[in-house]
Amino acid sequence: MNYNVAIVGATGMVGRKFIEVLEERNFPVENLYLFASKRSAGSKILFSGKEFEVEELIEDNIKNKTIHFALFSAGGDISLEYAPVFAKYNAVVIDNSSAWRMNPEVPLVVPEVNPEDIKWNKGIIANPNCSTIQAVVALKPLHDKYGVKRIIYSTYQAVSGAGMKGYSDLEEGLKGAAPKKFTYPIANNILPHIDVFTENGYTKEEMKMILETRKILHDDSLKVTATTVRVPVYYGHSESINVELKREFSLEDIFQLYKNFKGIVLKDDVANLQYPMPIDAAGKDEVFVGRIRRDFSTDNGLNLWVVADNIRKGAASNAVQIAEYIINECK
Ligand code: A2P
Repeated sequence: MNYNVAIVGATGMVGRKFIEVLEERNFPVENLYLFASKRSAGSKILFSGKEFEVEELIEDNIKNKTIHFALFSAGGDISLEYAPVFAKYNAVVIDNSSAWRMNPEVPLVVPEVNPEDIKWNKGIIANPNCSTIQAVVALKPLHDKYGVKRIIYSTYQAVSGAGMKGYSDLEEGLKGAAPKKFTYPIANNILPHIDVFTENGYTKEEMKMILETRKILHDDSLKVTATTVRVPVYYGHSESINVELKREFSLEDIFQLYKNFKGIVLKDDVANLQYPMPIDAAGKDEVFVGRIRRDFSTDNGLNLWVVADNIRKGAASNAVQIAEYIINECK
């Protein structure tokens, strides 16, 4: 069977990647419907060698169609308003915004980590934050075997995570232009500030990592802290993850776990200067893990360096993998 797929935010950074990934992975698309704001209505986007016209996102353009999957990336407000509309017309919505992630009625899913949560969806499934996705993929084999007790995240995040405007701030900033998206220049700079600040001094991005990690790993008592930082890289988020495990481990076993885990590429051979970098991960769907070493300052402590393409595994590919899982496993 082939499926009718809608993309909401089709002209955006992640929206365009949804289309590319569907094509690349040979997703069984029968009809493709593209939605964006009124500004983009009538513009054309290529999919599988054919041009598709972008439609304005209004209910009248939705209700006359049969849509099996709706992949959303048009910001939280659009998701809050329109995800229930698509769900009402029987689509399964996979939403890349933060709008629904912490809603107890909505599963928050990374297929390598908690695919079992897909089954209890009521029409909306949330795609986690890009930084959370790659982190929980790296933590999953450790959590299953040794139990995770405490996590310290420090991130180095690419500008594409802030959409087309974030990308353009770096591109134009390198030519001397003033920033339009970020508060300060990102060219030749780093910003310890992603999303807005909350009352407790953490940014919303940091709180997303903390709360989403607990929800995906099904452990509300997990101790997590995070510092999230924007760096002048176009694609690929990097993360230092310091993790304290519940039980003793051997480093040999950790290497073995990563060698065998689907979706992870182990790149750790410091004798030959091999470690993950954004230029390795850009354009790929795997999560790259390296710099694995014991944290000698605590019991059962471990340091990891984790890199992934934030627009692919951190957004579009994860959403398409959720849809593939539904097709293949939830018949
Ligand atoms: P548009 O290009 O018409 O503004 P990014 O995250 O790269 O900035 O992309 C945001 C996406 O969300 C774009 O596709 C954008 O469409 C879409 N979008 C923004 N506002 C609306 C809206 N009011 N209705 C539908 N789509 C919207």
